[in-house]
Amino acid sequence: MNAPLIVANWKMHGTRSQCVGLARAIVRQLRKQPAPIQVVLAVPFTALASVKRILRGSRIGLAGQNCHWQESGAFTGEVSPTMLRDVGCDAVILGHSERRQIFHETDAVIAKKVDAALGSELKVILCVGETLAHRRQGRIAQVITRQLRIALKGVGKSAIDKIEIAYEPVWAIGTGHNAVPLQIAQVHRRIRQVLMTLFGKAAGSRIRILYGGSVKPENAAPLATTAEVGGVLVGGASLKADSFLSIAHCFNGN
Ligand code: PGA
Repeated sequence: MNAPLIVANWKMHGTRSQCVGLARAIVRQLRKQPAPIQVVLAVPFTALASVKRILRGSRIGLAGQNCHWQESGAFTGEVSPTMLRDVGCDAVILGHSERRQIFHETDAVIAKKVDAALGSELKVILCVGETLAHRRQGRIAQVITRQLRIALKGVGKSAIDKIEIAYEPVWAIGTGHNAVPLQIAQVHRRIRQVLMTLFGKAAGSRIRILYGGSVKPENAAPLATTAEVGGVLVGGASLKADSFLSIAHCFNGN
């Protein structure tokens, strides 16, 4: 089984020097307490190259928070998967609910990005999740199944080792209201079923499924002992080395 994956999503926070300082603190503290976990930092585009220099020689991965689906072209303001590779990224977050909601990314657009990222040898951390309205309407399974089926349509079995799924209920992101382990386990089991239908039982059961949404040091321990949870995607609490690492260390025993 894969080691738990702990992803920091710094979103649009931090100048280069702030990001470098935070990355340095995380590298230093993880070195002192080596743990059987994988850590990836998803940092703002402008800080990727500087943070990469700090991560050299460590086992911490680097990720972009978005990318375009074309390699190059007249797409003002966009960044391509090749550019992310070039600057030292191993992975990219795609389909984050902030991209879906604020920037109106559709499942079809996310599918194109997934294919392009995999084609550039980037790992994909694909976010899926329902809104509060979906949950109230009892449509969680329907929404998540659609998001997965469309985004992963072009993905062959040989690429599944490059896919991580993050279940991020929209109502839990940045709100302080995290989903409880029972709710998470139910949705993760549904996601697992969909993955096994798409890729077959063996391959579908290998893909890691993370949880994200108001993960904090105070609520991380029960998530770490929930069998269905393969790691976490942490936003706000990843902006301080201490809180990020205390979340990460909850997953040491898994
Ligand atoms: P949050 O963000 O931990 O601040 O809720 C999680 C995310 O958006 O990935």
